[in-house]
Amino acid sequence: MGKRIILDTDGGVDDALALILALRSPQFRVEAITVTYGNVSVEQASQNIQLLLRILHLEDPPPIALGARHPLKRARISAEHVHGQDGLGGITQWMTKEWYSEFKAPRELPDATQLLLRLAERYPGELTLITLGPLTNLAQMLEKAPSSRNLLKEVVIMGGALEVPGNITAAAEFNIFSDPHAAEQVFHCGLSLRLVPLDATRQVCLDRNTLYRLTRSMPSPLNEFVLHISQSVLDYMERTQGNAVLHLHDPLAVGVTLNPKIAAWKPLHVEVETQGIHTLGMTLADLRPLREELLPPPNLLAARDVDSKRFLRLFEEILCRRSS
Ligand code: BDR
Ligand code: CA
Repeated sequence: MGKRIILDTDGGVDDALALILALRSPQFRVEAITVTYGNVSVEQASQNIQLLLRILHLEDPPPIALGARHPLKRARISAEHVHGQDGLGGITQWMTKEWYSEFKAPRELPDATQLLLRLAERYPGELTLITLGPLTNLAQMLEKAPSSRNLLKEVVIMGGALEVPGNITAAAEFNIFSDPHAAEQVFHCGLSLRLVPLDATRQVCLDRNTLYRLTRSMPSPLNEFVLHISQSVLDYMERTQGNAVLHLHDPLAVGVTLNPKIAAWKPLHVEVETQGIHTLGMTLADLRPLREELLPPPNLLAARDVDSKRFLRLFEEILCRRSS
């Protein structure tokens, strides 16, 4: 029996890679996938996840649930400029219309908050929630049933930028910037939290040639899919930063849940900026060189140095494993 996992995702390119990693890992039992707005709308993101599950051909696919359509307080932003119009590098253009059409019809999906609560009650103290998008779904669950925080074992959050520049603004990382108020609630809810910020995820990347070699070394519909969806992010990175590399942000959050030793962890007190003009969504870690008892108590463990070789080996093994 594997570790019980719930994945909360906003349906983008690296989300899809993270889901592949989680769903093909025998150490995990994925109990549900809850979807949020983020890179694209929640409707598009849920279609993307349905498409991915179809390509993965799982014997026993987890249920998908529809979550937040927008942040708690501010207007929604999105990242089609990075992940493509559909959030998956334009895969929907590439597929035959017939093949894709069944995903166009919105299916009745359960409500994410309700499913999260139901599962938390069914498996008290057993569930690890991995969040790969804005934290709105989790904040809404905590708002609805504050005591549910005692039911989750741990939350692993891909988000934030502690000692490195942000990626959506100079100060902020996309998932936290999308809903800083939700992030603030989650950071202070008392749950056991592991944060996987850009400081860690920028240490793990694949360049265009490596990705091509990997996916072509074991041709399969899944690897074809991976190669195709990654192109828009690679193009974006080449256009804006001069290097065609894919940062494995969301996959690393799954990787450290599989094996926490992939990263070094530091207990930190981290606040989320919810007011700033230039610093909205910033994750401010208290890094003052003071004696421990003089610092505010840590509210999370943050991933710092990553054993990137070990992680990439794990990622490649799972991606290239035969079976789809
Ligand atoms: C995060 O932002 C999203 O665009 C990615 O999917 C990832 O979750 C990285 O900042
Ligand atoms: Ca994401």
